[in-house]
Amino acid sequence: MKHLLSAADLDREEALTLLDTAEELASVTDRAVKKLPTLRGRTVANLFFEDSTRTRLSFEAAAKRLSADVITFTAKGSSVSKGETLKDTALTLEAMGAQVIVLRHHASGAAQRLAESGWIGASVINAGDGTHEHPTQALLDAYTLRQHLRGGSGDLQGLRVVIVGDILHSRVARSDVALLTTLGARVTLVAPPTLVPVGVESWNCDVTFDFDDALSDADAVMMLRVQSERMNAAYFPSAHEYSRRYGLDSMRAAQLPDHAVVLHPGPMNRGMEITAEVADGHRALIVDQVANGVSVRMAVLYQVLSSEEGAA
Ligand code: CP
Repeated sequence: MKHLLSAADLDREEALTLLDTAEELASVTDRAVKKLPTLRGRTVANLFFEDSTRTRLSFEAAAKRLSADVITFTAKGSSVSKGETLKDTALTLEAMGAQVIVLRHHASGAAQRLAESGWIGASVINAGDGTHEHPTQALLDAYTLRQHLRGGSGDLQGLRVVIVGDILHSRVARSDVALLTTLGARVTLVAPPTLVPVGVESWNCDVTFDFDDALSDADAVMMLRVQSERMNAAYFPSAHEYSRRYGLDSMRAAQLPDHAVVLHPGPMNRGMEITAEVADGHRALIVDQVANGVSVRMAVLYQVLSSEEGAA
């Protein structure tokens, strides 16, 4: 695997190999010295044109746990303000020795453009491009579901996953639908009609506008953040109305089967799409998702850099 650009690019075997590798690498996290020498001498560059807490820091932790050197670039405070392009910024990082570029960018397709442009020889990992894809988030979501509902191995065959909220602007929803269905899960999207993307019929999932209808047979509910920063129009009458129809509170959570779990990719709008009581409650795996993100990103870095070594 030279690049990781899209969850849709992963077939079942490739996805399971990444999850199994992450499972093995997770044991490093439990050690007193959280380091393996695997990527010693390699350099990972985090190239973040958009804000991030979880993804940027977990790629950094993942690279360091594998003994790689890490260069971190954030657009704020950089020469992007002087008009420097993605191409020149990536060339600059490669000139400093980066073999992998982890890219987050506001433009959908930016990671693919960088990977396929021929500008650089480094591998590219998509850490979120516009409203398009966020493949490592999908991998850590699949990992977390597998850990809690499938005993930490195998695929997600028959698992019923409900993804709720701002589907229109969500790169997480796109990547999750692609990867979870590749692994055998059945996905239902729940959103107000205004937040359902055009062309959703071609996604391999069901769509409903009624959250309550989807609760009783769900194994997992993934709540999505309302991405106000990407909204240039009024997509719903008010925050209160949105929460009433599409928010997860304790009353709704009580309608879920006893074993059902609640996920959220973060950052959360507490009180909007999820109440604090549910976010901090016994079903919530939101902190587990963050912890698993480090192991999954270790596995992705390992796979990408191994393929580069094989090619060499
Ligand atoms: N889930 C996610 O991508 O979070 P960050 O924006 O904090 O990286």
